[in-house]
Amino acid sequence: MLKEKVLIIGNLGYIGPVLTDFLRLHRSDMQIVGYDTGFFEGCLVNHLFENRFKADVQIYGDVRSFDPSLLDGVSSVVYLAAISNDPMGNVFEAQTLAINKDCAVDIARLSKEAGVESFVFASSCSTYGFGGDDAKSEGDSVNPLTAYAKSKVGAELELSRIATEKFRVSCLRFATACGASPRLRLDLVLNDFVACALLNSRITILSDGSPLRPLIDVKDMSQAIFWAMGRSVESGGPDLVVNVGCNEWNFSVLEIAHCVKQSFPNIEIEINENAEPDKRSYKVDFSLYKALAGDSYPRGTLADSICDLSSCIDSSELDLSDFRKSHLMRLNTLRQLQEQKSLDSDLYWNRPA
Ligand SMILES: NC(=O)c1ccc[n+]([C@@H]2O[C@H](COP(=O)([O-])OP(=O)(O)OC[C@H]3O[C@@H](n4cnc5c(N)ncnc54)[C@H](O)[C@@H]3O)[C@@H](O)[C@H]2O)c1
Repeated sequence: MLKEKVLIIGNLGYIGPVLTDFLRLHRSDMQIVGYDTGFFEGCLVNHLFENRFKADVQIYGDVRSFDPSLLDGVSSVVYLAAISNDPMGNVFEAQTLAINKDCAVDIARLSKEAGVESFVFASSCSTYGFGGDDAKSEGDSVNPLTAYAKSKVGAELELSRIATEKFRVSCLRFATACGASPRLRLDLVLNDFVACALLNSRITILSDGSPLRPLIDVKDMSQAIFWAMGRSVESGGPDLVVNVGCNEWNFSVLEIAHCVKQSFPNIEIEINENAEPDKRSYKVDFSLYKALAGDSYPRGTLADSICDLSSCIDSSELDLSDFRKSHLMRLNTLRQLQEQKSLDSDLYWNRPA
């Protein structure tokens, strides 16, 4: 019997390996195909990259030159590929728009033509920008402040127009990710604080600590993607935009630091009193996701994620004494690849002549 085939685009980053492991555990009858250009392929925490994190078939390529024949026989596409945060988006604005939005929409159109049934797009709660103290629901207006957030809003809008009863589109507005992954990122707030606590015994908060940030563990993101891949039209309609996270994990940055201190009582917390006010601050209402996804709604504790992160960082073979300069920060890696002329100014690989 032919296995059901899923295509994960952007599978060689932080979330992709955890998602792959999750899908394999829950659906052993699924063939997982990965497609990625491999910007961060070498950014592993240690050499123990187990097979469970790898796709069954790995294809290397850029979404800006995607071959539609890769969609033959695919039932679900998960689009994770992105220039995946604000600092990178600020430096690579045009590429952010092309990769995060234009290519997502083009590949969704091709997917629909190829008979794919479900398209899952990794959007972000950062679309709410400065949201104030009231929790933002999907019906509230968005306020994208950065190239990254604008690319996600633009993609959502165009993707929703493509959806039909037979081509379900799910735009998952994820909270800020946290937790362990073989391709750990330390440019995410909780991950940064746990690294600070473990490696420096001091959390240095770059802001005054007041911005609000909902969090979600990467395992819960994987659960949400799995749910969205299989959801019926009755559960959310052909084109769904939904906040993904949990109401209990809406924190201020300072609260996140104090949660980390509970696991590392001897550390100090330092805030930057003189920081410019952070324009990105949002509290998010995840009730729609809870109502639609039921058991997929996150139930873990932040202490569990902190514990996972702590083991993950402890297992690293890297010199992380100055981790904010390490290749576990995505922008550092792109810059380094450009400095060594591996990537050109448009973020295409320079091939030998
Ligand atoms: N990490 C978070 O906090 C978070 C929160 C909300 C949404 N998201 C979204 O989830 C998705 C995955 O996030 P992540 O943390 O794994 O990011 P990541 O940066 O670790 O991974 C992104 C992957 O996309 C690939 N990619 C980038 N440009 C490409 C191109 N032109 N062609 C092919 N592949 C390309 C990269 O090589 C990388 O493997 C992104 O869309 C991100 O915006 C992440």
